[in-house]
Amino acid sequence: MTLVEVGAPEAGVAVVRLRRPEALNALNARLMAELREALFALDADDRVGAIVLTGDERAFAAGADIKEMAGLSAVDMEYADHFVDWDALREVRKPIVAAVSGYCLGGGLELAMTCDIIVASETARFGQPEILLGVMPGAGGTQRLTRAVGKSAAMEMVLTGEPISAERARELGLVSRVVAKEALLPEAVRLARTIASRPRLAVRLAKDAINRAFETTLSEGLAYERRNFYFLFASEDQKEGMAAFVEKRPPKFTGR
Ligand code: CAA
Repeated sequence: MTLVEVGAPEAGVAVVRLRRPEALNALNARLMAELREALFALDADDRVGAIVLTGDERAFAAGADIKEMAGLSAVDMEYADHFVDWDALREVRKPIVAAVSGYCLGGGLELAMTCDIIVASETARFGQPEILLGVMPGAGGTQRLTRAVGKSAAMEMVLTGEPISAERARELGLVSRVVAKEALLPEAVRLARTIASRPRLAVRLAKDAINRAFETTLSEGLAYERRNFYFLFASEDQKEGMAAFVEKRPPKFTGR
């Protein structure tokens, strides 16, 4: 892979880095195909319990590649199914922590929002500037941003195209925490390691249930949650976790 670098798993965590610095990590078709392949390989790798996705200090990603898209027609996009690799990323079952520094714009923000948790450095800038190009967000921005920050803030960001600071993103609930830029990767990895140390089946079904909250009515979501909860009582980890609590000893989870 040339545009995506995959680190060796360590303590259950693999770090995936977007590596197209000359274009501020603009997301072209090749990069997204590589990213899809990398994330699916890690999803199937038993050594990995959680993934960190990051860019570099200047940019997480400054959007979909404008130069690649500029000459396309609607018909080209339809036949190429232009965002097919983007859409596939929501099928990754392991948790992904996005570690964001610098520009996180357009498709870059849409990619970060497809991840499960966003950790930001204080230098991060989040925005949906597509309106300034005569278009609008096309890889989930109008839907995921609205769910993350609510209608009014999403309207402001999408209709003006103006970015917000990391601190504002934290106030709005778009990111879970803001850290100093030197602390970004260590903090994201620490968080991912904590998640990777938890019983894997429970993590998997909990992520699945939280994501379901964005797809269903409350009643259906609650029923879905209950099924996943009951299902975990078929796992060895549930027996072990509860027995260890009763016996006042640390649990030994196997992910089974
Ligand atoms: N696509 C392609 N190339 C990009 C890019 C993008 N989204 N963002 C930056 N680049 C390239 C620039 O063209 C430039 O390349 P050259 O050196 O070959 O000219 C290089 O990256 C460095 O960028 P700048 O010189 O512009 O850097 P800057 O510091 O002056 O400005 C910036 C930084 C404000 C982020 C500016 O680059 C910018 O506005 N980028 C575009 C942001 C944007 O509009 N993103 C949305 C894209 S559309 C989209 O994402 C659709 C969707 O919903 C999926």
